[in-house]
Amino acid sequence: MDTLIFATNNQHKVDEIRLVLGSRFNIITLKESGIDIDIPEPHDTLEANATEKSSVIHKLTGKNCFSEDTGLEVAALNGAPGVKSARYAGESRSFDANIDKLLKEMEQNSSREARFRTIISLILNNKEFIFEGICPGTITMERKGSNGFGYDPVFIPDGSTRTFAEMTMEEKSVFSHRKKAMEKLIAFLSDV
Ligand code: IMP
Repeated sequence: MDTLIFATNNQHKVDEIRLVLGSRFNIITLKESGIDIDIPEPHDTLEANATEKSSVIHKLTGKNCFSEDTGLEVAALNGAPGVKSARYAGESRSFDANIDKLLKEMEQNSSREARFRTIISLILNNKEFIFEGICPGTITMERKGSNGFGYDPVFIPDGSTRTFAEMTMEEKSVFSHRKKAMEKLIAFLSDV
């Protein structure tokens, strides 16, 4: 089985990706690789941040690895919070404060269109490859559900009447931006 380091400290993302990958690849987290760092996300695009994360881990380990960066892009807010999704309400990176800020910004907006966009940067045998996954949907007026993480309680994917936070991980994965990007990664890895 091929081993890939997943450059994240977010256990939810690891669980979601292991679910998609099944037993085809052995995913090692940063923690399991003995790496204890908070990788910076200093850039103003998801692509550049994903590249930064995979490059840092590749330089540290010399091993094949991938990273992902995801943003919630709200049409009525010109794509915000976007690349700033994690720190929308400040450096504390509080999911609750981020949602409070988003709902406040959206208070007067009848246009609720939004999308999650995931970028994966894979470094395989010293070359970088980029994959994208998009999940279109809408922002609710209030929180619903308690599963998942981040903006899940206020995001309903197109094709459902429930928020991500009202779904099990398996149900979320039917719509998930991260799953779509992962499927492209898997198709690519199956071909090399
Ligand atoms: P990251 O920089 O890729 O970790 O993602 C930035 C932020 O986007 C996270 O802190 C979450 O608030 C949010 N986010 C990423 N993926 C998801 C998701 O699948 N559901 C809800 N929020 C998410």
